Amino acid sequence: MGHPHTSFSTFLSTMVSKDDPDSSRWWSEKTIVAVTGGNKGIGFALVKRLAELGLTVILTCRDESRGREAVEKLKEQGFHVEFFHLDVVVQSSIEAFVTWLTATFGGLDILVNNAAVSFNEINENSVEHAETVIKTNFYGPKLLTEALLPLFRRSETISRVFNISSRLGLLNVSNPVVREILENEEKLSQKGIDFVVNRFLEDVKIGLWKDEGWPKVWTDYSVSKLALNAYSRLLAKRFEKHRLSINCFCPGFTQTGMTQGRGIHTADTAAEVGAKLILLPPNKLPTGVFFSGSKPFLYSNL
Ligand SMILES: NC(=O)c1ccc[n+]([C@@H]2O[C@H](COP(=O)([O-])OP(=O)(O)OC[C@H]3O[C@@H](n4cnc5c(N)ncnc54)[C@H](OP(=O)(O)O)[C@@H]3O)[C@@H](O)[C@H]2O)c1
Repeated sequence: MGHPHTSFSTFLSTMVSKDDPDSSRWWSEKTIVAVTGGNKGIGFALVKRLAELGLTVILTCRDESRGREAVEKLKEQGFHVEFFHLDVVVQSSIEAFVTWLTATFGGLDILVNNAAVSFNEINENSVEHAETVIKTNFYGPKLLTEALLPLFRRSETISRVFNISSRLGLLNVSNPVVREILENEEKLSQKGIDFVVNRFLEDVKIGLWKDEGWPKVWTDYSVSKLALNAYSRLLAKRFEKHRLSINCFCPGFTQTGMTQGRGIHTADTAAEVGAKLILLPPNKLPTGVFFSGSKPFLYSNL
């Protein structure tokens, strides 16, 4: 899947370094985009940027009052966005969103799976909340995406799922069983991904997670993004010929609540790059790709 590294990255850096994505504008206010975890951080900045670029944006958020506050804040800055109260780990909340979306817009063009959690300070590595991290960062976007698949209006343009992931979720695992399951593109399966995640949670439960070759940094978070990347690869393959593109994006070390305000750039900067990638023109849109960095980026397989 994807393209040879050199020609593809050259082409994309030309695309992405353009200051004005409007020069290749294919979308309109009829283009519907939903962003999860839109009340703060990169999600909020993405909502703002996409609204600024003229799409109809649905800011979703797990806390109703925090979400409404964010919408008000945007309104004060001159942006109108829609709002829906959505907790990505609650199945009934996902179902309510699907019902509302169908009734209100009749479909969706772009889903940005941004919502995620991490419970570690920058230099810590505790797995105390591993189950919540896996549930939120992997199963949340997966369940939401699966529920929304029938709603993507693939006939109008190429629909998109854009997963905000992390370089920490690249295959930095030394466990041979896990590598074997994730490395083989032909054999990769949902069952395999679930096995990897369950095995990690089992290793956490029995206290062996430090010895079993899992990622060394923010281990539970890294495994959650590793699973998200693998799922994205699988989904991209499933929809390769069906006008639905699925890509992942690492925004780089960004100043948000998740990093306790540390980072090398702001959420607005990360969102600007993210928005350009989300809005790549249909004829130049890849699928099954991992974008990395806040400037014209590296490219690798997911
Ligand atoms: N910041 C970085 O350096 C960095 C680097 C690489 C990747 N990322 C990724 O970028 C994305 C955004 O992170 P951020 O840095 O902007 O972090 P953030 O400021 O902590 O924002 C995370 C957002 O996710 C929401 N959220 C958490 N659990 C949720 C749930 N169950 N349902 C719905 N929303 C939920 C949070 O809501 P509450 O306000 O209610 O908690 C918040 O809106 C994440 O996917 C993260 O993994 C960040």
